[in-house]
Amino acid sequence: TQLPSYEHLLVSTPKPGVGLIQLNRPKALNALCTPLFVELNDALRKLDTDKEIGAIVLTGSEKAFAAGADIKEMKDKTFSTAYGSDFIEMWSDLVTQIKKPIIAAVNGHALGGGCELAMMADIMYCSTTANFGQPEIKLGTIPGAGGSQRLTRAIGKARAMELILTGNNFSGKQAGEWGLAAKVFESPQECVDGAVGTAEKIAGYSRIVVKAAKEVVNKSQDLGIREGVEYERRVFHGLFGSKDQKIGMAAFAEKKKPQWTNE
Ligand code: CAA
Repeated sequence: TQLPSYEHLLVSTPKPGVGLIQLNRPKALNALCTPLFVELNDALRKLDTDKEIGAIVLTGSEKAFAAGADIKEMKDKTFSTAYGSDFIEMWSDLVTQIKKPIIAAVNGHALGGGCELAMMADIMYCSTTANFGQPEIKLGTIPGAGGSQRLTRAIGKARAMELILTGNNFSGKQAGEWGLAAKVFESPQECVDGAVGTAEKIAGYSRIVVKAAKEVVNKSQDLGIREGVEYERRVFHGLFGSKDQKIGMAAFAEKKKPQWTNE
């Protein structure tokens, strides 16, 4: 795989089938500026269409996953420049349109847009060093990259409302207890290794089936239960038309390891 080099990102393939994107703007604690997002979108698009990649891990440094939107870039914007350029739309829209699973490995600060970016991932892992929060209220604004919606769906209205109105931070341990993070690791290295391990496992399954599984789980966030279950059943029926469903079930019956074709 030919991976491009970026100014604000490090991109690698630490294990077969796994694309690892590390935000790398250390002097600003990975504050999310437009050039960083342009690069992130480019890297995600490339990994999403790369046949060798089955899952993506998104991480920052030990000190910061991302300390939020770049306040210095944003401070002089006017209503018309923000509205006119759909400021931030290009941030959340592409990340959530990626078809391959994205696992966020969160260490250190994940504040404002950093917390929001982590919540756009399909699975969130963090370590006990993680420091989450939506502190926008302290800056005279509100979350602008989905925080009020995704945090509320993930941890419930009472907690999300309290956090967004106070700007209080919350720990990695709390993120785990509340179900925002699927796992909490003791150290940043274990967190990244854990995310890469999970991505490798996912990348070992049929790509077409992984794509369908991610699609139906995400539908649960948009649809009512009845439509959601019907949607799931249609996709489930559709997979009987795939080669990999035949291969997977035949391998079980023959007590063999399936060799996926991704078709
Ligand atoms: N934007 C721009 N620069 C930032 C930044 C941000 N969000 N966060 C940190 N930096 C910069 C600092 O300005 C500093 O740069 P200089 O050395 O040039 O002064 C450098 O990163 C290191 O930061 P600190 O010296 O502050 O480091 P610290 O360890 O003392 O504190 C911190 C760390 C608690 C994360 C603190 O930097 C901080 O509070 N950052 C801002 C967090 C925040 O408010 N985020 C929300 C942004 S708004 C938003 O995200 C809107 C949205 O919904 C999309």
